[in-house]
Amino acid sequence: MAMTGPAPFACHNLAVDRLTKAFGAKPVLHQVSFNVRPGEILAIVGNSGCGKSVLLRHLVGLERPDHGEVRIADKSLGELDDRELLEVQKNFGVLFQGGALIDYLTVKGNVSFRLQREGLLAPAEIDQLAVEALAMVGLEDVRDHDKKPAELSGGMRKRVGLARAIVASPKILLYDEPTSELDPVYSNVIDDLILRVWEKKKPTSIVITHDVRTLKRIRNRVLMLKGVQPEDCRDPAASNLIFDGTVEEFLSSNQPEILEYLRRYKEENE
Ligand SMILES: Nc1ncnc2c1ncn2[C@@H]1O[C@H](COP(=O)(O)OP(=O)(O)OP(=O)(O)O)[C@@H](O)[C@H]1O
Ligand SMILES: [Mg+2]
Repeated sequence: MAMTGPAPFACHNLAVDRLTKAFGAKPVLHQVSFNVRPGEILAIVGNSGCGKSVLLRHLVGLERPDHGEVRIADKSLGELDDRELLEVQKNFGVLFQGGALIDYLTVKGNVSFRLQREGLLAPAEIDQLAVEALAMVGLEDVRDHDKKPAELSGGMRKRVGLARAIVASPKILLYDEPTSELDPVYSNVIDDLILRVWEKKKPTSIVITHDVRTLKRIRNRVLMLKGVQPEDCRDPAASNLIFDGTVEEFLSSNQPEILEYLRRYKEENE
């Protein structure tokens, strides 16, 4: 993939190798393998419940695979002790699907939390970065900065989660459904923001989305997961990662699962 703009400042290759996970008797991920180059942006799509958020939790070391592994900069996350894992996790900014805000902290407190804990910057600098990140997601009104998560709408919580993910300029950004719960106009604003953040410093960016509009904006690479079928588990060559290609290839694919996905999206959004 040709990339323009500044050289990537991240140098963390991310490799997922035959990742397999079940919860009890329910298989969720089966032999998922892909590589993400430093500075690459890609989308992951798939029907509800197919394992996208579970995959994201593995990428950041919050879930342990049954088989296979996730490697970051050639370190297997499963081989790290807690302290090493924490160090690796500092490279990530994550927008969790439900926002995962800390209830007892204010909006600004949530966004500043990580920088405060790292203790590398003066309070005034942290405050400035938090205010800038909040402005980037359209929360420039200072009256909102002192609110608690319970006082926010779903869309606002999502935007605070987004500000928190980007505030420390992480090398790897993971966004889980950044535009769900947002109206189409605001979805465009968030897609723009994700692209702007990417173009500025080229963090490796993975966007989990249902939104075909987001795919079209991202324009680069897309992966598709499908729910694991019991027969897949008996087939060592099977995987529930069923597509890895460009957005153009995805949109013009004749693969039945992709046609079905695009048909349903069209139906739901017309
Ligand atoms: N901690 C857990 N314990 C048991 N089952 C789980 C757990 N986390 C996820 N699952 C199951 O794993 C499957 C995949 O869940 P996941 O949240 O990854 O779906 P998803 O693709 O992100 O869906 P959506 O698009 O709705 O967000 C679901 O069947 C879910 O119930
Ligand atoms: Mg999910």
